[in-house]
Amino acid sequence: MEISFTSLKIPTKGIVALIVAEGTRLGSFGRKVDAATGGAVSRALNASHFKGKSSETVDVLGASGGIGRVVVMGLSRPSVGERELENLGGKLVGRVENSGETKLNIAVEPVHGCQVSASRMAACIALGARLRAYRFNKYKSKKKGKDRSLCLEHVCLMTQSVVGASRAYEASEALTEGIYLARDLVNEPPNVLCPEEFAARALELRSVGVKVEVLNEEKMKKLGMNALLGVGQGSIRESKLVVMQWKGARQKTSQPIAFVGKGVCFDTGGISLKPPVGMEDMKGDMGGAACVTGLIHALARRRAKVNAVVIVGLVENMPGGNAQRPGDIVTSMSGKTIEILNTDAEGRLVLADALWYAQQRFKPKIVIDLATLTGAIMVALGQEYAGLFSNNDRLSERLITAGETVNEKVWRMPLHDSYDKMLKSSFADVKNIGGRYAGSITAAQFLQRFIDKTPWAHLDIAGTAMACPSSDINHSWGSGYGVRLLNQLVVRHYEK
Ligand code: BES
Ligand code: MN
Ligand code: ZN
Repeated sequence: MEISFTSLKIPTKGIVALIVAEGTRLGSFGRKVDAATGGAVSRALNASHFKGKSSETVDVLGASGGIGRVVVMGLSRPSVGERELENLGGKLVGRVENSGETKLNIAVEPVHGCQVSASRMAACIALGARLRAYRFNKYKSKKKGKDRSLCLEHVCLMTQSVVGASRAYEASEALTEGIYLARDLVNEPPNVLCPEEFAARALELRSVGVKVEVLNEEKMKKLGMNALLGVGQGSIRESKLVVMQWKGARQKTSQPIAFVGKGVCFDTGGISLKPPVGMEDMKGDMGGAACVTGLIHALARRRAKVNAVVIVGLVENMPGGNAQRPGDIVTSMSGKTIEILNTDAEGRLVLADALWYAQQRFKPKIVIDLATLTGAIMVALGQEYAGLFSNNDRLSERLITAGETVNEKVWRMPLHDSYDKMLKSSFADVKNIGGRYAGSITAAQFLQRFIDKTPWAHLDIAGTAMACPSSDINHSWGSGYGVRLLNQLVVRHYEK
């Protein structure tokens, strides 16, 4: 779907959307549209007792004056911020995407008491529209009805500040592309998106200026990444480690910030096999890797002034004749030995080596990992907040604030030596599962064993990366959660 910006004028084609904030009237352009339709708009508003709440919409169909359809959408006050405007853009698209019209013209007029500038208003509505319009229907052979691709082809924002709005939207467009990429990766079926295919998609980021390296099993073997390799050894598909670098800071050699993603392309549980019901969801077990890949795409596309490194550990966790067994002991890249007691606790094994590699090679200022790590985080937080675990209060505060700002929320969970003790192994340095309780915390404690002194945060996104309840700006199974959060963190604290 295409976005464009133009001045406020009555369009010759498509639907006209008017925004009327709670307790206010049609704006001056709205009145023009009303006049052009012979008063049909104001009659419809009166007849429907329109008050302007965000939940209210009025459709004016078959009006005269060459405008076939007008949609009036309410906007609750007094809180009209960027998120509310994004939601409005999303709602409008939801309302008309299957109407048969291919063009939606949204009139963006000033809203009384709204702190957002006219150009940002239009950019926010455009972002919400784009996020809502995302479709993953490439495997539907008949594209009709709700899945008709390109039903709504074009959203045009009509604003008094065309130049300002299109400039403000540029960064949002980069972000949208990153979110689209993350959603696509999560939604792809696991027979298609194996580690090699994921790596191939990552290699495409070279075209936007990201440096991409792919390490194969032989390379990883030499580096001693036996924790990661052990997870992938039951699969006929080769494990990969992808290293992506964006050097946008003025000083190309300054210390980067690092993002690490769990990329389990499919998680059967391995020999500790998962029950069949819902196992198909485990195609999304590479949600962390998808997010950080989407992030670096966005950073590169908006030429962010930051040096960022993204590392994703890509494996397929399968049972089989060569699969790893409960009881196996592997030596990780760090030299620490790990006793594997449950092959379904595989994400932490992949991350142990990926995190270690990130710190050793890049000496990053901070390292943040994202992973669909535990079912237990959903028991604790549901699908509203991701779990945050960190050895650093400042980084935690920054993530919490960024999350509130862009509505990708994180909730800090505890780390403590007493939990760490639950990982004591009789035969090796550490075991890969804790006890019956506090599953998300013991998983995080395990990761912390592979963090040196670097400020580190771990986000458990098992509840937020996929199968979330749909919202105004997301109807996709793979949500793309985290791309906005991390982009906001970078914007606010790590650029220039
Ligand atoms: N990928 C799963 C966690 C998960 C579950 C993500 C549901 C998204 C939705 C992870 O590899 C896993 O299997 N974790 C186990 C850990 C346990 C064996 C200690 C879990 O959560 O049950
Ligand atoms: Mn698992
Ligand atoms: Zn997993």
